[in-house]
Amino acid sequence: MSFSSPSSLLLLLLLHLLPVLFFWSCHSQQPYINNAQLNCYATNGSGALGYSCNGVQPSCPSFLTFRAESPYLSPALIAFLLSADTANISRLNSVTDVSPLPADDLILIPISCSCSNQFYQHNASYTLKTLTETYLTVANDTYQGLSTCQALMDQNPFDSRNLSVGDKLAVPLRCACPTLNQTSAGIKYLVSYLIISGDDIPTIAQTFNADYQSILASNKLNEKSTIYPYTTLLIPLSTAPTKLSFPPPPAPSSTSNVPPPSPSGGGGGSSHTGLFAGVGVGAGLVLLFAALALFFCLRRRRARPHNQGTIKEPVSIATEYEGLPPKTNSFTSSTTPSQFAPRMRDALDWMTVYKFEELQRATGHFDEEHRISGSVYRGIINGDTAAIKQLKGNVSSEISILKQISHSSLIRLSGFCLHEGNTYIVYEYADRGSLSDCLRHNKSAADSTSLTWKQRIQIACDVADGVNYLHEYTNPPYIHKNLKSSNVLITKDFRAKVANFALARPAAEDGATQHVTRHVVGTQGYLAPEYLERGLITPKLDVFAFGVVLLELLSGKEATITREGGEKGEVFLSLVIADVLHGHDARSQLRDFIDPCLRTDYPFDLAFAAAELAMRCVSPDSNSRPAMNELVISLSAIYNSTLDWDPEDEKHFTF
Ligand SMILES: *[C@@H]1O[C@H](CO)[C@@H](O)[C@H](O)[C@H]1NC(C)=O
Ligand SMILES: *[C@@H]1O[C@H](CO)[C@@H](O)[C@H](O)[C@H]1NC(C)=O
Ligand SMILES: *[C@@H]1O[C@H](CO)[C@@H](O)[C@H](O)[C@H]1NC(C)=O
Ligand SMILES: *[C@@H]1O[C@H](CO)[C@@H](O)[C@H](O)[C@H]1NC(C)=O
Ligand SMILES: *[C@@H]1O[C@H](CO)[C@@H](O)[C@H](O)[C@H]1NC(C)=O
Ligand SMILES: *[C@@H]1O[C@H](CO)[C@@H](O)[C@H](O)[C@H]1NC(C)=O
Repeated sequence: MSFSSPSSLLLLLLLHLLPVLFFWSCHSQQPYINNAQLNCYATNGSGALGYSCNGVQPSCPSFLTFRAESPYLSPALIAFLLSADTANISRLNSVTDVSPLPADDLILIPISCSCSNQFYQHNASYTLKTLTETYLTVANDTYQGLSTCQALMDQNPFDSRNLSVGDKLAVPLRCACPTLNQTSAGIKYLVSYLIISGDDIPTIAQTFNADYQSILASNKLNEKSTIYPYTTLLIPLSTAPTKLSFPPPPAPSSTSNVPPPSPSGGGGGSSHTGLFAGVGVGAGLVLLFAALALFFCLRRRRARPHNQGTIKEPVSIATEYEGLPPKTNSFTSSTTPSQFAPRMRDALDWMTVYKFEELQRATGHFDEEHRISGSVYRGIINGDTAAIKQLKGNVSSEISILKQISHSSLIRLSGFCLHEGNTYIVYEYADRGSLSDCLRHNKSAADSTSLTWKQRIQIACDVADGVNYLHEYTNPPYIHKNLKSSNVLITKDFRAKVANFALARPAAEDGATQHVTRHVVGTQGYLAPEYLERGLITPKLDVFAFGVVLLELLSGKEATITREGGEKGEVFLSLVIADVLHGHDARSQLRDFIDPCLRTDYPFDLAFAAAELAMRCVSPDSNSRPAMNELVISLSAIYNSTLDWDPEDEKHFTF
């Protein structure tokens, strides 16, 4: 064979080496994508598929840029979208994890970039949310050009003409590691900068304090080249970028210019307002909210609301600032921003991040007509009715708890939206409103509309079940801390769902010392004495509050009864029950105590059992209170007996 001849061998060797030599000479830097990202079905300019793995290292630390844009307006949300680390983004950009960022702020995202097949990339993932999304809109609109439709099509199994809502896309983000040539020139990082209309390379070079010629070389551009918006430009840097300092808007003299702005392209100059403004505003807002919260807290406490029938003054001293960051250090570290970050990510995996405009549309611009109560609105989202609650500032704790729980008796969160310092959480809608409304709203109307005995016991079972789940089955276990009839929502078929986890906190581990706080929040009438007096926080706090809710179900009365006439003043339902059951002729006293709306349509012996159970729950001694799981069992027994109950049996008690 001719292969045996030395010249043939040499030729063979050359043939084998040729691609490598070619590779090193032609692909030693990355070619600029040159607007090829717009033609999704043309992949021949491989620049659109990704930057080729021509670097010294198969993986390296790298940086992306991203412009804060609704709904991705906080480091936590951006981190989620880009599969980056929230704390690292916050640190690098000197902002807090959940602080709202001004739209169009340029954010630096530290990531790790690695070679996968033949392209450098950082893997993110994205779940399609609407029918109108395509590979192009995901790459260009959502990811702002950090990915391309070609790369998405290349790395996803879904047919580009047959994408469905819920498809989880792998999103390769464009990044690169320095080549040998760059490394020897001292380049350590390549930043994937997103070009916007109005940009020119000299200005970008100035922004990053990078060398103009070196940027041209890194992207295989020359001084006459045109650059396009929604494409990436590699910025070679010898040190990691820190805060970006924006030079004043450039004079339109430079040679490498972006073509005339596309209709909706953000003006380059205006986005240069800079990171520092963003930091200032963010920090200012946080301080402002904290101050407001403190103000409301103090004011609320001084001005104890007097509930007078029709006036819908919130009884809760917590209502005004639900969801604000805890103001004492009594909260465990699980709610500090840095620990919150990874949880936020998990949460977001199944939650929808809504655009503010969507919520505006759903609620007719938060019209009075849509207001359910307080800051909660009813809205139609994708054909479903949802409740939308506006909260001020940081609601990390509520969201991080809601994301962990999945129980039919606990309200389900479907998503949220951050907008101008407010968080809007969207959760399932309960048709009949809160339990307190159900118990009292129809007082004057026909009695027939009030809850039946069976419904009341079912509700008690549901609430006990939900709270028991929080106490026993979440990790870590949680204490709701704000259980009350206005936080129990009733569905169309009279099932109960516990809502409002703004004050919830993890329970102390078994055997560990109990949590103590000097910051007592909650609603009068539901607060256990050991919490009011010593700030002691244990699951028995919820048991006490549950006892009060059970008493409300039995009596139809409010947790705090305002006495008229001779003995004026407020009295707690939790104190009344002991008088009822420990007085002489307990049975007839209990009949008087039970909600008159029930008339005699309830099994008296079961009511007696329920009242005794409730009395144990509100015992001043927390050790005498039953545990939540015991309550679930006792109440199920009462419910089952209710099913066996024949109203006829009760007739001879009638008087
Ligand atoms: C694809 O390759 C052909 C021939 O090499 C060239 O004419 C065409 O312009 C290329 N298309 C793109 C989008 O680069
Ligand atoms: C955050 O940055 C540090 C170094 O700056 C790095 O070691 C760490 O892995 C990063 N965290 C994540 C989750 O990327
Ligand atoms: C990124 O995703 C690709 C598949 O799309 C996979 O082959 C590669 O290992 C991933 N890289 C990392 C660092 O996870
Ligand atoms: C890319 O996204 C921007 C911003 O969302 C938009 O203005 C532009 O029209 C998009 N380009 C294409 C080709 O869809
Ligand atoms: C579209 O995708 C669905 C599942 O994602 C599949 O069942 C269906 O056959 C596809 N249709 C076409 C025309 O490819
Ligand atoms: C390596 O870098 C120098 C400038 O640093 C440049 O002149 C030269 O052309 C580069 N070599 C290759 C093969 O790109």
